[in-house]
Amino acid sequence: MSSLAFQDVVVRYDRHVAVQPFTDSVRPGEWLCLIGPNGAGKSSVLRAVAGLVGHEGTITVDGAPLAVRSPRRRAALVAYVPQSPLIPADMTGFDYVLLGRNPYIGYFGSESRHDRALVQDVLERLDLVRFADRRLGTLSGGEQQRLVIARAVAQEAPVLLLDEPTSALDIGHQQQALELVDRLRREHGLTVVSAMHDLTLAGVYADRLTLLHQGSVVAAGAAAEVLRAETLSEFYGVSVSVHHDPDGTVVVVPRRTAPLA
Ligand SMILES: Nc1ncnc2c1ncn2[C@@H]1O[C@H](COP(=O)(O)OP(=O)(O)O)[C@@H](O)[C@H]1O
Ligand SMILES: [Mg+2]
Repeated sequence: MSSLAFQDVVVRYDRHVAVQPFTDSVRPGEWLCLIGPNGAGKSSVLRAVAGLVGHEGTITVDGAPLAVRSPRRRAALVAYVPQSPLIPADMTGFDYVLLGRNPYIGYFGSESRHDRALVQDVLERLDLVRFADRRLGTLSGGEQQRLVIARAVAQEAPVLLLDEPTSALDIGHQQQALELVDRLRREHGLTVVSAMHDLTLAGVYADRLTLLHQGSVVAAGAAAEVLRAETLSEFYGVSVSVHHDPDGTVVVVPRRTAPLA
C-alpha cells in the first residue's frame, strides 16, 4: 500500500502553464478521479507522475520524491495507462502484457517463469486468454485497451494511473474494467488516480473527485459535492440534471437545450 502526494506541482509546456500549483494527497488504497473539460490538465498531472513530462514542485510515493528515482524503480512504483497508447501491431497479446514485467527483468536478462506465470494469471483474471496468441493489429480498439490495462496490472506497481481507460470500451467492458481496478484496489491496496470523462462512472468508482479547469482545482470532494448542476454548467458549459439514487449514486444526465427560436 502506497501513498501518493503532490506538493505545488506545476506542469508547463514552454511558456504555457498546463497545471497550476497542484497539491493533493492520495491515501494508500484510495481512488482519486480527475475530471474536467478537455485541456483542463488531467493528462498532464498523470504524465508528470509517470515521469513523461517535467514538473516543478514535488511528487512523492510513500514520502520519497519520484524525480530522484531511476526510471526502472519508478516503473516498479507507478504503472501508467496512457490515453492513446502506441500499439505494436505485430506483437501478440501475451508478449505485450509481458512488457509490464520490464522493470523486473535485467538489462540482458529474459523474463522468468514467474513473470510468464503472472502474465498468464492476469490474462485469466481479465478474461483475455483468448487474445494471448493474437497479434494486436488484429484486435478491436476495445480489446487492445483491455490488454493495455492488463499490461499495467502485470507491472504490479502499488500506484496505478489510468488516463481515460475506458473511453474505447462498450458499457459492459467499461464496467468490467472498472470493477477489475476496484477489485485490485480492495485486494491489493492499489492506489489509483484516473482521468475520466463519464462523470457518473467517475462518481461511482472513485472515493474522491477533483475538478480541474484551466489547470486549477475548482472543486474537490465526494461525488455529491462536486457533481452539482451549477458547477458542471459553469466549468463544462453544459446543461445537465443531477439525480441522486437512493443507493447514493450521483447520476449526471445532459439536458437537451431548447432550439433557437
Ligand atoms: N505536448 C504538449 N505541448 C504543448 N501543450 C500541451 C502539450 N500537452 C498538453 N498541452 C496543453 O496543456 C493543456 C492541458 O492538456 P492536458 O493535460 O492534455 O488536458 P486534459 O487531459 O485535461 O484534456 C492544454 O491546453 C493542452 O493544449
Ligand atoms: Mg487528457
